[in-house]
Amino acid sequence: MTRAFHPRTRFRQADNRLWIGGRPAVDWADALGTPAFVYDRQMVARRVDRLRAALPERVALHYAVKANPFGPLLAHLAGLVDGFDVASAGELERVLPHRRPGQPVSFAGPGKRDAEIAAGIRAGIAFNAESEGEILRIHRIGAGLGRRPRVALRLNPDFVLKASGMQMGGGPQPFGIDAERAGAALGLVERLELEFAGIHVFAGSQNLDAGAIAEALDATFELGRRLVEENGRSLPEFNLGGGLGIPYFPGQAPLEPEAVGNPLRHLIERHADWLADTRIVMELGRFLVGEAGVYLTRVVDRKVSRGHTILVTDGGMHHHLALSGNLGQVLRKNYFLALADRLEGPVETVDIHGPLCTPLDIVGKGVELPWAGPGDVLAVFQSGAYGATASPQQFLSHPAPVERLV
Ligand SMILES: Cc1ncc(COP(=O)(O)O)c(C=O)c1O
Repeated sequence: MTRAFHPRTRFRQADNRLWIGGRPAVDWADALGTPAFVYDRQMVARRVDRLRAALPERVALHYAVKANPFGPLLAHLAGLVDGFDVASAGELERVLPHRRPGQPVSFAGPGKRDAEIAAGIRAGIAFNAESEGEILRIHRIGAGLGRRPRVALRLNPDFVLKASGMQMGGGPQPFGIDAERAGAALGLVERLELEFAGIHVFAGSQNLDAGAIAEALDATFELGRRLVEENGRSLPEFNLGGGLGIPYFPGQAPLEPEAVGNPLRHLIERHADWLADTRIVMELGRFLVGEAGVYLTRVVDRKVSRGHTILVTDGGMHHHLALSGNLGQVLRKNYFLALADRLEGPVETVDIHGPLCTPLDIVGKGVELPWAGPGDVLAVFQSGAYGATASPQQFLSHPAPVERLV
C-alpha cells in the first residue's frame, strides 16, 4: 500500500521530503540534534498578517506568552503584534528585553504572588485582576512601592464559550471576578485610587467553531455595555480574549480568520456609542504560533512486540505533553506526523512511543508510515504552541529539547 502524504501543514513538501525555512527538515535534525522544536519565522509573520487583514483595523493584537515563551520568537513577535499578555513574573522577565517602547504588557492569571505583583508594578504593566482580594494586594504592594498600579478587571462571564477545548469562563472559576461583582470590584478600584485599565474576558481556548466564538463575543460586548452603563465609567481597554484554535487532528477544519473578523466588525459598529475612546484587544497564543512549529524526534529503536511494530523515539511527552494526549484531552488522538525524508512510499502501521518508562508516553498509535528504523527523523506538526513550555521536562531527567527559530 502506498500512501500520499497529506497532513494539514503549510510546510513545504518537495522531493518526497519535508522542508522548514528553506532547508530539509532532516538537515535541521542533523545540525541541531534531536529532539528539537523548529519554528518558522515567516510562517508566524504571514499568520499575523492574514489575521490582521481579517480583523477590524482598530483591534489590537496581543500575544499570549504562555503559548510559547521562546526568546527569539518573542523578539520576532515584538515586531508583529501590539502587545503581550503574561501569566507570571517569569514570563514578564522573558518579554521585557524584547518589547518595543510603549508596547503594552498585561498580567493575567490566578494566584499572582506578592513578589510577582511587585515585579509587575515596577515594570509599569497593567494587571488583569482575578479577584477582589488580589485588587487589595495590588494596592497594598503599590503603596509600599510608592506607585499607583494600573488594574483591569478580568471578569468571569455569566456565559460559556461553547465548543472550546478548554473552558475558562462561566460557573465558579479561579479565573476572573464573577460578572455580577464587576460593579463592586470597579468601586473598589476607584476607592483605592488605582488606575482603572478596563476589562478583560477570556472565556476559553482552542475553539474551531466560528459561530460559538461570535456568540461569546456578542455576550462579551453586552457585558461591557452593561458595566459602562451601570457605572458611568468608560473603558480605557476592552480585552476580548480570543480562544481561536488550530486543527490538531484529522477531521478538524481550520478556523478562517474572516469568520471571526466579520462578526466582530459588526459588533464594534453596533456598540460604537460606548467604545469611542476604548482600545479593543484580542489576546491570542496558539493561533499565531501553533502551526509554525515542528517537533523533530529521531527513531532510536524498532521492535516487534506480539505482532505490533513499535518505534521508540528520543522525544516524547516530557517535551510534548499534548502530543501524548495528556494535556486535557479526553480521548487521545494522533497529531499529524510524517517521516521527514520519506513523506510517501509503501506504508506499514506502527505504534510510536517516547523514551519514558510509562505507557502514557505515546507519540502515535496505529500510524501509517513508510518503513522507519533507527536514525530516521519523525516530524510532529502543529507543535509551535504549548510544546516545550507545557510539558514535564524534568520527568526522567532527559535533556531539554533544542529550540530554534529559522
Ligand atoms: C488569559 C489567557 N489569555 C490567553 C490565552 C491563550 O490561549 P490560546 O493559546 O489558546 O490562544 C490563555 C490560555 O489559556 C489564557 O488563559
